[in-house]
Amino acid sequence: MAKTSNAGAEKFDSSRAAEYEQQSKIALAGYDACHELSACMLSASLADQNSPHVLVVGAGGPAHEITKLGLFQPTWRFTAIDPSEPMLSIAKSNIDAAGILDRVTLHPGLVEDLKRAPLYDAATLIGVLHHIPGSDEKNQILSDIAARLVPGAPLILACNHYLYAESPLLLKAWSQRWAMQGLHPDEVRSKLGTILKGADPPESEQAVFDLLHSAGFERPQRFFSSLFWGAWIVFRAR
Ligand SMILES: C[S@@+](CC[C@H](N)C(=O)[O-])C[C@H]1O[C@@H](n2cnc3c(N)ncnc32)[C@H](O)[C@@H]1O
Repeated sequence: MAKTSNAGAEKFDSSRAAEYEQQSKIALAGYDACHELSACMLSASLADQNSPHVLVVGAGGPAHEITKLGLFQPTWRFTAIDPSEPMLSIAKSNIDAAGILDRVTLHPGLVEDLKRAPLYDAATLIGVLHHIPGSDEKNQILSDIAARLVPGAPLILACNHYLYAESPLLLKAWSQRWAMQGLHPDEVRSKLGTILKGADPPESEQAVFDLLHSAGFERPQRFFSSLFWGAWIVFRAR
């Protein structure tokens, strides 16, 4: 079986981790709303469960997947996994500040390192897939998640899903958003370099659905969209 690499995490070094939360709110218009809706979608899907255990993949940084859901759902438990130590360390501080560290297990590493039992009741993969190179590795991380979910469990997937070079108008609009924050054109060019560096988004929503389907997920439904970004709920096939 193919292994996933650390390639998607290498750029999340200590300097990018330090600026990540502030930058992500500009780079992704609606960053907070996407996380809030993700928490609402999972809450709606698991309304009949008492204390579900959620696997949060790529949990580093602000950890909104855990703080928003954890404060809203006081009995839910979480396993947070991320291969970037600086990002995971910031997540730990934010989870601690929210007062819910006792319901969270933190794992530096990859999904494939996690035991296959007990199975999780839900999972999230937010802002990760377009940083993972190639279809094989994307398929692998989705399959690794599917293998750790109970049949029928929901996954929230959010990622960029257009080829940047084929969407010049969206790319220009993305640059204008930075300019709107008062950045000098040179700084905007530098931001553009950061988003393009090492990124490999699926080329379309259909490509996202194909990846999900071949990893064992079904019934994808989009609930959020913003320029290149999309967010979907999908369910592990029974
Ligand atoms: C753009 S950040 C998203 C963080 C957070 N989920 C959010 O919504 O703000 C991407 C995160 O995915 C992590 N990552 C990259 N490759 C990964 C992999 N193969 N498995 C798990 N996490 C990975 C990075 O280290 C980084 O912390």
